[in-house]
Amino acid sequence: MTGSGPSAGGRARLIVISVVVTLLLVATVAVPIAAMHRSDLPFERAYGSFMVSLVSRIGGGNATDPLGRTAITEQGRVAYAGSCAVCHGARGDGKGVFGTAGYPPASDLLSEDAKEKSDAQLFWITKNGISFTGMPAFGGQYADRDIWALVSYIRALQQGRGSSLDVPAATAAQLALADPHGTPVQQGSAVYFAQGCGLCHGAVGNAPGELGLEREGETEAIRYGRRGMPAYDTAQLSNADLRALQAYMRTFTGRGREGDD
Ligand code: HEC
Ligand code: HEC
Repeated sequence: MTGSGPSAGGRARLIVISVVVTLLLVATVAVPIAAMHRSDLPFERAYGSFMVSLVSRIGGGNATDPLGRTAITEQGRVAYAGSCAVCHGARGDGKGVFGTAGYPPASDLLSEDAKEKSDAQLFWITKNGISFTGMPAFGGQYADRDIWALVSYIRALQQGRGSSLDVPAATAAQLALADPHGTPVQQGSAVYFAQGCGLCHGAVGNAPGELGLEREGETEAIRYGRRGMPAYDTAQLSNADLRALQAYMRTFTGRGREGDD
């Protein structure tokens, strides 16, 4: 003991108190301000994209595309149209309906910044998402091979290849049927549109080719996903919702996948 200044115990207590006060300030002042602001602070954009690059470079490592980035697959295109185009736009320019609604806005996947990223980085970002932004993690919904198919499709868009899918849009009458409090068929219709099934399969299962849906629909495909189709587990789609979906799908005309349209 020196007699002047706080004792070791006192100093430790002081440190604990200042840490607690700092954390409280961060939680009550800094985080809400950061969460509420809708425009860039100086250097924020540069810092954000630097961090995304850094983290995805570390996380992605040097994973390579097991599909060998061959021709773009129908599945990559369908998965992109159904899961990404709402934000990143059908052509990848970031102008999807929800792309400009959020902050930060969805990235322009045709930008130099995105072109410069490695396949492994794009893969990592798609699988893990980007914290504190609207970019969701798709690792729980898509298997790795589907994510690689998405990466190939993004590359195709960057090279000006890849056309959008011709999925029939829902008519007003079809949308009006959707009612979460209506008959089982109406409930199923509401679930079908809310979960985005119609974005890939058309409003009444009438998307062309492989995407046309049969009556009923295999529940296994819905629960476990398919190449290019997300999996919908019970956290996302309750058993009751699944039964309602099936009631709705039973009304489809049943253009089967074997169908030759
Ligand atoms: C709800 C909107 C939303 C959806 C859906 C979405 N994204 Fe994003 N995405 C974002 C936002 C917002 C960012 C930008 C985050 C930022 O500024 O750091 C982003 C960034 C990215 C990036 C990083 C680009 C770069 O140059 O840094 C990639 C790659 C990406 N998204 C791929 C995808 C893919 C593939 C899908 C579909 C499977 C998808 N995104 C679906 C909102 C979305
Ligand atoms: C991102 C696009 C996408 C979304 C969203 C999507 N699917 Fe699929 N779905 C696919 C693809 C691709 C296949 C595989 C087609 C094939 O095997 O050729 C498929 C296959 C299926 C199959 C099996 C094939 C059949 O004819 O029976 C069913 C059933 C199905 N989807 C139902 C649904 C339901 C219900 C939803 C919503 C909960 C949904 N899908 C959402 C793309 C999607």
